[in-house]
Amino acid sequence: MTSRGLTYWTDGKEKRIFFAFGHWLYALDANNGKPVPAFGKNGKISLREGLSRPGADEYVLSNTPGVVFENLLIIGTRVSEGPTALPGDIRAYHAGTGELVWTFRTIPRPGEYGVETWPEKAYQAVGGANSWMGMAIDREKGIVYAPTGSAAFDFYGGNRQGANLFANCLLALDARTGKRIWHYQTVHHDIWDRDLPAPPNLFTMQKEGKQIPAVAQITKQGYIFVFDRVTGKPLFPIEERSVSSSDIPGEKPYPTQPVPLKPTPFTRQTFTEADLNDFVAQREEVVKELRASRTGAPFLPITRQRTIIFPGSDGGAQWGGAAVAPDGVMYVPAKEIPVYTSLTDAPAPATLTSGEKLYQAHCSACHGTDRKGDHSGTYPSLLDVSTRLKEEDMHQLLKKGRGMMPAFTHLSASEREAIVGFLAGKGNAQPANIKSSAKSWVPYVHTGYNRWYDKNGYPINRPPWGTLTAINLNTGDHLWQIPLGEFPALSAKGMAPTGTDNYGGPLVTASSLIFIAATPDRKFRAFDRKTGKLLWETLLPAAGYASPSTYSVNGRQFVVIACGGGKLRSKSGDRYVAFALGNSG
Ligand code: HEC
Repeated sequence: MTSRGLTYWTDGKEKRIFFAFGHWLYALDANNGKPVPAFGKNGKISLREGLSRPGADEYVLSNTPGVVFENLLIIGTRVSEGPTALPGDIRAYHAGTGELVWTFRTIPRPGEYGVETWPEKAYQAVGGANSWMGMAIDREKGIVYAPTGSAAFDFYGGNRQGANLFANCLLALDARTGKRIWHYQTVHHDIWDRDLPAPPNLFTMQKEGKQIPAVAQITKQGYIFVFDRVTGKPLFPIEERSVSSSDIPGEKPYPTQPVPLKPTPFTRQTFTEADLNDFVAQREEVVKELRASRTGAPFLPITRQRTIIFPGSDGGAQWGGAAVAPDGVMYVPAKEIPVYTSLTDAPAPATLTSGEKLYQAHCSACHGTDRKGDHSGTYPSLLDVSTRLKEEDMHQLLKKGRGMMPAFTHLSASEREAIVGFLAGKGNAQPANIKSSAKSWVPYVHTGYNRWYDKNGYPINRPPWGTLTAINLNTGDHLWQIPLGEFPALSAKGMAPTGTDNYGGPLVTASSLIFIAATPDRKFRAFDRKTGKLLWETLLPAAGYASPSTYSVNGRQFVVIACGGGKLRSKSGDRYVAFALGNSG
C-alpha cells in the first residue's frame, strides 16, 4: 500500500486519525486505533459513493492525506488516467459523522462556471481533473487551496476539446461551502500529463515594504506560479505563449500556454542534441534516435513520432513538494531527465481477442510492449512474473491495484482471465470467448513513460539529473542550486555528484537547516539553508521517498523519515528512522 500520510483531527474531546485504504476512508480513535463507530458505517465511508457512473471503471482511492478545517475533512482522490476514469470531485466530510457536506466538481455540469471549456456532455464521459497531490489550508481566512491534475485520458484530448477547466488548476475554495473563490489554470487542455505535482506553499511575500499573503505553486515543468492568496492576482507577470500545434487527427492543442516570467524556472526548459552528456553510451545510436525525435520546446504535442517531454513526465517538481521558510525562501527538489513517448492507434475493442492483444492494449504503456518494464524500475518487468506471483495474486492485483498500478475492474472477467493466462505463460490458449468490456474508447494509446537512460543506466542528458534549488520568492531570483543525489559508481570514478531522480520533500528548520532524503542512493542529508553546503549525511536502511517531519519531546528536537524504498530500482524497506538534533544527542 502506498500512503503519503494521515490527518489528525480533534474537537477538544475526541481525537481521530483519518486515512484511506482502497476506496475506503477510515476514522480511527487516536487513543487506541479502533474504528470510530459514529463515523459513516462502523468507522468508514466509501469514496466511490457519488462518483460511480455507467461506463467508468471503479478505481478511486486517496493516498495523500486530506486537510482539516473546523469540523470538516476536505479530501481529493486518485482516479485512473485512462478513458474510463471517474471524475475528480473534491469533497468535504463532517469529521464527526462522515456525512458529505460539500462537493466541488472539477468537471463542471451545465449551468456551472467553466462548462463552456468542454464539449457538450463531456462531463458525462470524461474523468480525472482530480486533486491527488494534497492541499493547503488558510484556517484564518477559511480558504482551501486545491491543485488538480489533467483530465483523462492523459495524452489525447480529441474528445475533450477546449481549455478543460478545472483540470490543471490551482483552486481557491471557500473551506466552509466548497464555493470557488478564484482559480488559475497552469496548463490549458493538458495532453502531457502535466498534473500539478504537489501541494501549494502558503507564505507572506515582502514587497516594497508591504506584506502580501501569497500562495506559490510548483510544477512539473519547473515553473513557480505565485498569487495573492486572497484575490488570486499573479504576483509576477505571467505570459500566454504560443505553442506548437499537432498533426494527430482529431487533436486540437490549445494555442497558448501560461509561462511565469518570474520566479526563474528551477529546471532547464529544453533538451536537444547539444545537451547530450559527454559519456553517453552508444552515442551514435542515441544521436540517430534523437534526430528522429520531436524535441526542443516545452508543450510539443505528442504525435506518432517519438516526442520528448522535458523535464520528464513526473517532473521537474515531484510530489514531495517544496518548503518555504518564514523569510520567503523556497527550497525545491526537482529532476531533469528526458522522457519520451508517442501515440499509436488503439486497437478497436472487437479485435482484442487474446490475452496478448489485451496486454498490449491495457498494460504495455507501463510494463512495456516487450513486458520488460521501464529502465528506471518504476514499472516492474512482467516477463517472469509467474515465478513470483500465483494467478490468483495477479487477479487480486487487477481487482485492487497497488500504488501506481491501477485496478482493472472495468475489464470483463474473461478479459482479465485472458491477460493473467498470458502472463502466466499459457500463451494464447485462452478462454475462447472474450467478452469485451469496451464502453469508453479513445483512438490512441501512448507508448509509455520512458525515461531516456543509456545502456549503462545513466540519463542521456548532461547532469544535473536531480537538484535542490533555493529561490527567493520575494524577488523571484535563485539563491543557489546544488545537485541532489549521486551514483556511487560515478563518484568512485572521481566525478562530482550528478544528482539523481528523486521523490520526496525537504524540511526547513528554525535553525537554518534543510533535511531531505528523496534519492535512490539511500542518503539522508542536511544542508545549510543559506549556502546549500552539505553539513551532514547518513545512510538509511532503504531510500526515504517521503518528506521528513520534526517534533520535540522534553526540549529535545528530532527529525524522522519514513524509509519505504522500492522505487527507482532501490530495495524496499519498512522503517521509520528518527535522529536527534543538537549536542544532547
Ligand atoms: C499506469 C501504469 C500501469 C499500468 C497501465 C499497468 N501497471 Fe501493472 N504495475 C504498475 C506498477 C507501478 C507496479 C508496481 C506496483 C507496486 O508494487 O507498487 C505494477 C505491478 C504489476 C504486477 C506485479 C508485479 C510483481 O512483480 O509483483 C503485475 C502482475 C502487473 N502490474 C500486471 C499488470 C497488468 C496485467 C496490467 C494491464 C491489465 C497492468 N499491470 C497495467 C503500473 C502499471
